[in-house]
Amino acid sequence: MRNSEFSRHRRLRTSQTMRRFVRETDLKVDDLVYPLFIVEGESIKNEVRSMPGVFQISLDYLDEEIEELVSLGIPSILLFGVPKEKDEVGSGAYDPNGIVQQAIRHIKNKTDQLLIIADTCLCEYTSHGHCGVIEHQDVDNDKSLPLHVKTAVTQVEAGADIIAPSNMMDGFVSEIRKGLDEAGFENIPIMSYAVKYASAFYGPFRDAADSTPQFGDRKTYQMDPANRLEALREASSDIEEGTDFLIVKPALSYMDIIRDVKNQHPVPVVAYNVSGEYSMVKAASLNGWIDEKAIVLEKFISMKRAGADIIITYFAKDVAKWLQDN
Ligand code: PBG
Repeated sequence: MRNSEFSRHRRLRTSQTMRRFVRETDLKVDDLVYPLFIVEGESIKNEVRSMPGVFQISLDYLDEEIEELVSLGIPSILLFGVPKEKDEVGSGAYDPNGIVQQAIRHIKNKTDQLLIIADTCLCEYTSHGHCGVIEHQDVDNDKSLPLHVKTAVTQVEAGADIIAPSNMMDGFVSEIRKGLDEAGFENIPIMSYAVKYASAFYGPFRDAADSTPQFGDRKTYQMDPANRLEALREASSDIEEGTDFLIVKPALSYMDIIRDVKNQHPVPVVAYNVSGEYSMVKAASLNGWIDEKAIVLEKFISMKRAGADIIITYFAKDVAKWLQDN
């Protein structure tokens, strides 16, 4: 039939080269951030029970890790600390000699090829597992802020390139911005977890970072998955307070939010493909039920299409290898 009564969409799909030519979105190694869990102690390389292929490592395993990441061309890492001792006020988070601060110094001595993003939160360091200090059975916003500021400043003093506050206290961006500026770090960007939902998808992470709340949940500070306008309000206040990047977390169930945030704010938008999203794919793939490589590449290209500029993922090394093969 040679009339024009319908459109021939298949014209632009006739060959691999044609499809390449008209492809709207790409995924590159430069888009990736790899999270690392640094545990206090020696000669430790523990596979996280619920996250096959993800390890807690001690400082002495950092060199091989760094070499691998640099050789794969991955531009950045996100650091979490797993300390030996915890207390009510999360002192380990802002100890200038804390586990993350030590790791940052170690990595900076070794390479300048990796951007070090420090996760700024207390939950891995508090005995109760919450992201701030507790008053009357709830996290006290304003008493927690100065501790997050101290954490950020010690992380930058150790050499962190970007601060990623994930605690979801109100005012965390403006307080940290002020604290960094006063310490002379006005050129250090903030990548705020602006839109962070109270999500069941963080389950496996809490095994990895040993940060399960010992009572209650995080619903007074993290967001309700039912809300969309609230995400836009959160993103707007973080922008006003001076964040340089906006994180949306989790990613897969929140693609609509990634797009909304991207449409509203002309800053780099970061999708955090969280632990539960990783573990589900891994479990299915280890059972031989899905094609892991195809599924993972498809979900990341979908995040890019949804508006993400950067993706934080435990699959970063695999993706880097697959992109090299392609
Ligand atoms: C710390 C933090 C969490 C994650 C990143 N930073 C856990 C939480 O809020 O409970 C989750 C990451 C993941 O699930 O991969 N506040």
